[in-house]
Formats: sequence, C-alpha cells, structure tokens
Amino acid sequence: MKKVPFVTKELIEKITQKYPTPFHIYDEKGIRENARLLKKAFSWNKGFKEYFAVKATPNPYILQILKEEGAGADCSSLTELMMCEKAGFKGHEIMFSSNVTPKEDFALAAKLGAIINFDDYTHIDFYKGFAPFQETMCCRYNPGGEFTLNNEIMDTPKDAKYGMTKEQIKKAYAKLKDLGVKHFGIHAFLASNTVGSGYYPALAKILFELAVELKNELGIHIAFINLSGGVGVQYRPDKEGNNILEIGEGVRKVYEEVLTPNGMDDVAIYTELGRFMLAPYGALIAKVVHKKHIWKEYVGLDACAANLMRPAIYGAYHHITVLGKENDPLTYKCDVTGGLCENNDKFAVDRMLPQVEIGDYVNIHDAGAHGFSMGYNYNGKLRSAELLLKEDGSVKLIRRAETPEDYFATLDFSGLKK
Ligand SMILES: Cc1ncc(COP(=O)(O)O)c(C=O)c1O
Repeated sequence: MKKVPFVTKELIEKITQKYPTPFHIYDEKGIRENARLLKKAFSWNKGFKEYFAVKATPNPYILQILKEEGAGADCSSLTELMMCEKAGFKGHEIMFSSNVTPKEDFALAAKLGAIINFDDYTHIDFYKGFAPFQETMCCRYNPGGEFTLNNEIMDTPKDAKYGMTKEQIKKAYAKLKDLGVKHFGIHAFLASNTVGSGYYPALAKILFELAVELKNELGIHIAFINLSGGVGVQYRPDKEGNNILEIGEGVRKVYEEVLTPNGMDDVAIYTELGRFMLAPYGALIAKVVHKKHIWKEYVGLDACAANLMRPAIYGAYHHITVLGKENDPLTYKCDVTGGLCENNDKFAVDRMLPQVEIGDYVNIHDAGAHGFSMGYNYNGKLRSAELLLKEDGSVKLIRRAETPEDYFATLDFSGLKK
C-alpha cells in the first residue's frame, strides 16, 4: 500500500518559516481516529482499557489526546510517572510496568495509586520495605522457550530479561494474596512489532489458560489480563499492516473459549500499545543539506540518528517521501544519512528516491513512536522540536528544540582552570 504523508510540501514550507527543520510532527486526527478504532475492536469487553506506552512518545500533549480518547498510561520509570501525574493521570489510569526498578520509582507509583506490575518475584519483598500493597496488583509472566505462531518463531522469551517463570509467578500470587491483595492482573509481552492478526490471540490464549490455572489452584480473583504492546504497523509500502478489528475479534474468540466457560467473564482486557497508537501518526521532517558522490550517492540531512535511531540500531526500514515529488519516478539510488561520526547514521541504504536536490524536504514516515523518545545527544547533537498538527489544521509547538544552553546545562564550567 502506497505510503502517503499527512503533511504537504506547502504546509512544511509554511511551518519552517517559524520552526526550522528537523522536527517531529504528529497528526492529531490520525491519533484520535486510530484510538477510537482500537476501542471499537475491544468494545465486546466491558473493562477494556488501553494504557498507552509512554516510552513510545513521552509528550504530555500526546498523552492528553489519548486520555481524552479513554486511554490510561503505561509508565516504566520515575520521570514517566511524573509526566503522567502532570498530564492529569491518576490512580488506576496508570499502569507501572517496569523492570530493574529502583525504590523511588516504586514509591511514586504507589503514591499515585498506579497499578503496579511486578517484573520479578524478589520485587515483592523489596517493595514490602517501603510501600503499601494495594487491593489490585499485577505480575509479569515469562513462559520461557520460543514463542511461535503458525510454526514461525516470533521471539525467544527464554532469552528475555522480563517477567517470572510459571513456578515463580504462582508463588508471587500466593504471597501477594497472603499480603492482603484482593484482585490480580497478569501481564506479558512476548513479541515486538508483530504483523498479521495472530499475535494477540495467541498471547491471550497463554495468559487466559494461566488465569484459569491460578484461579483454580490459588482461588484468587483475576481482574484483568494485560496483553501489553507488540502490535506492529506497516513500515514498508510493500508489506501489510494490522487489522485491529480482526485482532480484537481473535481475542474475543479465545476469551469465549477459555475464560467464559470457567465463569471468568468479568476479566478486563488491557493493552499497553505504543507503536500501534502513534508510529504512523508521527513523521520526522528534515531538509536535504548536502549531496555527495563518492563510491555511492549520499543525501545528507539536517536530522541524524540522534533524532530517530531505529534505522541505525535495528536496521529498521522507515519509508521516505521527498515532499512535492510524491509522483516523480524513483530514479535516484542513494544512502540517506545524518551527520553523526558513525557510519550507521543512515536513515536508508540503497533507497530509490526521485531526483533529490539540496533544499528538498523529506518526510521520514512512521516516526511517531520510539522515535523522538529514543533520541540522544551524541556528537553534541541537539534534540529537535515536536509539533502537533491539530484537527483544525493549525500547528502547535508541543516541545521546543534544544539549544546549546540545554546541552551545557548539566556542566559546571566555573571550576575550570583559567
Ligand atoms: C512493558 C512495555 N509495554 C508496552 C510497550 C510498547 O510496545 P509497542 O510500542 O511495541 O506496542 C513496551 C515497549 O517496549 C514495553 O516494554
């Protein structure tokens, strides 16, 4: 399916009069429509709630849009919790799914009344020292082995650092029950960026069966099952995306097969999606600043891997549209690079583009999740601005670009020898 940017060259030319490239821009209309579709897909489940994975796009304006659409927030660190508190999330609107968790993080999560998801059996005793157990708590499961779908290995939970083994998780629930916890959640994240509609239903089956086992063996009340993240998006034009209505229907079938006959049809389904909620509704906009011809053709941008590191670290594909040249023939083979002193600072390798000129604007697609948020300051590169394209067509600055002063703010030059 052809990938069409949600911005035009004309709009970007107008925006850059005020906000220079590079910047990330998000599409409010797309975010809202997609959030409504997700809700529709799970409308069969009374307690359904999406807890947006804050790590994907930690910006309070984005969080508030999703909150207005009924979502909660999934946090994994102290500052994510602080941001959610500032954005108005309270109590069970926050899910705290962390790992290697420091004391302060647990303490703030408890203070906010968030649902705490224990990643390890030993965290229960660790937590016991300084925060109260709540009526509802959650544990993260790691079934080990390989996670396969239609005979294809999707991922290898046995090599993942997250969650507890079955033996441990049973002991954890029993311990939490003794500590007075009344309602329980089960959480697992077994594969990332999945496509086809099979992942959530397959995961749901594993977790629903575990829920039945826990109810029968320990007599505990399973209040929710959190399918976490992992639903992918269509990064490549020649690949399929996900049909969320089909996914919701797949989970419903398994729910009716496993939970309903066991008298467990009050179990709420939670999700913790990041990529699916935001990736397609965010783009990194950059300008072509150089062209270079050596053994290959290079197009150099004013953005670099510090603005979007997925291609550099995972070799991830992000589609690139040269704005205003959407219908030109793809006759120019090039590497699209940033200016870091790292040879992996390439947004694309051997990509076919239209004839590119210095001054062209490029739209790097699907950068709305795990894009800006994975940014860093290598080579003293500064983080870019984030803009919101609102439903009425206006543009709002939702995070200003870093300045050199921001970069130097944590250094103290006063003690240097003169
Ligand atoms: C605990 C947890 N929940 C949710 C997510 C979101 O995943 P995705 O963006 O693939 O939906 C992640 C991603 O790393 C995660 O670690």
